[in-house]
Amino acid sequence: MKKKLIAGNWKMNGSLAANEALLKSVLAGVGQAECQVAVCVPAVYLAQCQALLADSIVSLGAQDVSSHEGGAYTGEIAPAMLKEFGLRYVIVGHSERRQYHLESDEVVASKAQRALACGITPIVCVGETLAEREAGKTEEVVKRQLAAVIAINGHCISEVVVAYEPVWAIGTGLSATAEQAQQVHAVLRAQLKAATPSADRIKLLYGGSMNASNAASLLAQPDIDGGLIGGAALKAQDFLTIIAAAA
Ligand code: PGA
Repeated sequence: MKKKLIAGNWKMNGSLAANEALLKSVLAGVGQAECQVAVCVPAVYLAQCQALLADSIVSLGAQDVSSHEGGAYTGEIAPAMLKEFGLRYVIVGHSERRQYHLESDEVVASKAQRALACGITPIVCVGETLAEREAGKTEEVVKRQLAAVIAINGHCISEVVVAYEPVWAIGTGLSATAEQAQQVHAVLRAQLKAATPSADRIKLLYGGSMNASNAASLLAQPDIDGGLIGGAALKAQDFLTIIAAAA
């Protein structure tokens, strides 16, 4: 059976002291987790976290990557640079990037492509806003977002991780119900099946107020292969409870 993936998204949180305390507590409690575990940390802390996670079962990830290979792009970080820190994952197209940095579906797709070319697994985020859900456009929106990534990545699409994150559920405490999440995951799985014979092995994560109390029911859904965890990943005990729920 495919192992689930629990990935923390620290967003713009942390400090040298806080990161060390958090990762030491996670490592002390994680044991031989039955699922895959990752933390996606702010880029400035990659070296610190790489050292703290050395020889552990917790993989390192970043939260964004440039859609360019290198050169005159002030402030951007190339995928090859991330790779030097032993990165396994990078989040691309998080709704906060789409919203505040105006990232288009095409830019997100090329970020995923750049990451794959460097041997980093992109965690591609898709998800509808509350207005889009209320207008009955959830399927249309997530399919459009995923279609751009499928179009540019061809058969490599089987190497990505997809995270369904309804924007209205992120950081609000208002998670999608397990049924709502499963419904969208089934749509995404069908879209991936039409694109590749390996769709069943693609991990589809749910994200948006997943926490220690609701993780088990979300993770029990047939097409939910893990979680992308924001707020609850900043508390070691909550993150460990979610990891245990994914076993
Ligand atoms: P949340 O964030 O768990 O705090 O809702 C999830 C995410 O944005 O990835």
